[in-house]
Amino acid sequence: MRVLGIESTAHTFGVGVWDGGPVYNELDMYRPEKGGIVPREAAEHHLAVAEGLLGPALEEAPDLIAYSACPGIGPCLRVGRDIAARLARELGVPLVPVNHAVAHLEIGLATTPARDPVFVYISGGNTQIIVRGWRILGETLDIALGNALDKLARELGLPHPGGPKLEKLARGGRFLPLPYVVKGMDLSYSGLFTRAKQLLESHSARDIAYSYQEHAFAMLVEVAERAMAHTGKEEVLLIGGVAQNRRLKEMFEIMCAERGARAYAVPPEFAGDNGAMIAYSGLLAYERGLSVAPERAEYFQRARVDSWEDLFRS
Ligand code: ATP
Ligand code: FE2
Repeated sequence: MRVLGIESTAHTFGVGVWDGGPVYNELDMYRPEKGGIVPREAAEHHLAVAEGLLGPALEEAPDLIAYSACPGIGPCLRVGRDIAARLARELGVPLVPVNHAVAHLEIGLATTPARDPVFVYISGGNTQIIVRGWRILGETLDIALGNALDKLARELGLPHPGGPKLEKLARGGRFLPLPYVVKGMDLSYSGLFTRAKQLLESHSARDIAYSYQEHAFAMLVEVAERAMAHTGKEEVLLIGGVAQNRRLKEMFEIMCAERGARAYAVPPEFAGDNGAMIAYSGLLAYERGLSVAPERAEYFQRARVDSWEDLFRS
């Protein structure tokens, strides 16, 4: 079955095709000139790039259309839903809603040897420790890891998304002690950000960037290791945009080597938001019997990973 997936929850408009595996996966990212995402601008961006990205994906007609239906930014979700519903109508094929976060989880399983890992979902909007059956064991009490990296990068004048630029800047930095906040399997990043911002006046950007990463990542390794110990799981799987960070992967590899476990990270092309993960997750949802009529295809700005299908089964 050939599935076309459309991603449009936030900054990225992505189109992917899954046909026994990923056969097409192209995207275009909205980059605000400064500050965070302006919803209307992001939606306009998505509309402007849609046709160009869809063209090659439609050369061979898909059997199924999937769209990222939750959670996300309203105007962005609407663009993806409208395009997906129109395509499903025109082609006369089923339409399947997808939970964006679940798609991140499922593409991780599809593209790595991990079978039953502790998932570490780290992106612009989420920091969660999850296990199969989609149970959330721990999460950030305030800002997400990707957001924490982007916020510090912005203070340093680096363009959005700042995570990758901060990673480069951090190389060769020296260690400064910063706030480290872990509560059971939850963690917190806002105190770390506030302190790092204060220290920028008296310390080099490189030392701050390095120390910031070391603290933020060590907290995450600690809660993930606790989740592995509690559940007896012997694999950890990094998913979401921040899973591309090399230092983070290295720290997880060290932790896992010490306990005889295995660390995996989703391949970079499937780590950030992308259409292939929506296509694949749509296929799995369709196989579970989920689909919606094009004229009744809804989207939801908020949804958790555990009970989201009820939103669409009425
Ligand atoms: P969500 O999945 O929660 O809706 P999102 O869709 O905005 O959030 P993704 O596209 O999965 O998030 O990830 C984007 C985030 O990944 C940004 O915060 C970005 O800075 C971060 N990121 C990307 N590459 C790296 C890297 N090499 N190191 C650290 N962070 C990175
Ligand atoms: Fe995402």
